[in-house]
Amino acid sequence: MGENFKYVIIDRDETSRNIIKSYLVEAGEAEPEAEFYDVDSANDFVLNMPQGIVFADISDFPEKSLNLITEIKEKRKDIVVVALSNRASTDIIIKAMRAGAKEFVTKPVIKTEFFEVVNSLKEDLQNTDTKESCRIISTFSNKGGIGKTSIAVNLAVELAQLTKDKVALIDLNLQLGDVATFLDMTPPFAMDYIANNIQNLGEEELLKTMSRYKNTSLYVIADPLNIDKSQDITAEQIKNILTTLKKTFSYIVIDIGTNIDSKTITALDMSDLILLIAIVNLPAIRSMQRCMELFEKLGYSKEKIKLVLNRYIENEDIKATDIEEVVKQKVYWKIPNNYLTMMSAINKGVPVNEINPESNIAQNYMEFASKLSDYLITQKLNKNYNERESFV
Ligand SMILES: Nc1ncnc2c1ncn2[C@@H]1O[C@H](COP(=O)(O)OP(=O)(O)OP(=O)(O)O)[C@@H](O)[C@H]1O
Ligand SMILES: [Mg+2]
Repeated sequence: MGENFKYVIIDRDETSRNIIKSYLVEAGEAEPEAEFYDVDSANDFVLNMPQGIVFADISDFPEKSLNLITEIKEKRKDIVVVALSNRASTDIIIKAMRAGAKEFVTKPVIKTEFFEVVNSLKEDLQNTDTKESCRIISTFSNKGGIGKTSIAVNLAVELAQLTKDKVALIDLNLQLGDVATFLDMTPPFAMDYIANNIQNLGEEELLKTMSRYKNTSLYVIADPLNIDKSQDITAEQIKNILTTLKKTFSYIVIDIGTNIDSKTITALDMSDLILLIAIVNLPAIRSMQRCMELFEKLGYSKEKIKLVLNRYIENEDIKATDIEEVVKQKVYWKIPNNYLTMMSAINKGVPVNEINPESNIAQNYMEFASKLSDYLITQKLNKNYNERESFV
């Protein structure tokens, strides 16, 4: 059963190594290929081992262990790491997952949990076609001019900066989108070309076809240059594009726009999170309410929808709590009103952190990206840590 997967254990504690070994045997898996006492002695072996799973205790010398996990993630797509630790604080879980661990297991390792984790990782390794960890985040509102594009663009830039993972930013405003303008890019290929050729593009060609933002890990797909071309793009093609991108990217951020049609519904359906954007005024709140009704009809869970208030000013007539009462959901994030920095960023075609990284809005976007990626990381864990609650 397990002959194609090799196992390595890195753990100072012999009892703990023996427990894992006995579980592997009981599960009918191969005996560990090697056992190591510490990261230093494991380093070379692990980076050169065949396809498999590494159990790495990160309780001692976490810095070193996390560096090895990151190196494995960067160099070896066919090796996954299960981080083990005596402590299961949210802080350590997030650090491990961010470094690139696929799973986190608290010690002493419980048998049922161990089997569950190994089986799910083996499935992932066999099914290299889908990158299970890719998450799709969309910005949406049925109101114009509310900040959907600003949020999609700045968030995507920050996610790439923070995680160093590949992030795709897609403009689904197929007629006159703004994403490329917001980043001062003139992509040689846009959505129409990619839609028509997606089936034939391998990972490398796809990355060449998309436009890389400066030398970051952010890649952009802009709206078609020619408006006529946008009508030819189908919902099926959007689905194909997203499915293909999921194999390569860790995050996909979509500026959905205001339109509700089969294409945008496809993107909303496929999204893991929908950031529903509003500003604090009555018409915007009503429209937020309508969007919530629409999402309910589409069968989306409340967890999938996150309310985001843009251009937020404290002490206005309408409070965030008033909105929560009307919409019957907590506000997930508030972005401060900072017209000067925002306008300057848009006019120069750069994210707000390039205008002034100290500004309240640049800081806010950094924190927003961090909160979202932490949330998505903890959501990815298929276990119910109590700490998880604190991220919702
Ligand atoms: N936090 C903010 N503070 C102040 N102004 C903002 C903020 N966010 C966005 N804006 C301003 O709001 C305007 C609209 O922003 P943006 O284009 O992102 O909205 P949109 O919802 O994508 O619009 P459209 O529906 O036209 O696509 C811009 O002029 C931008 O400068
Ligand atoms: Mg827009």
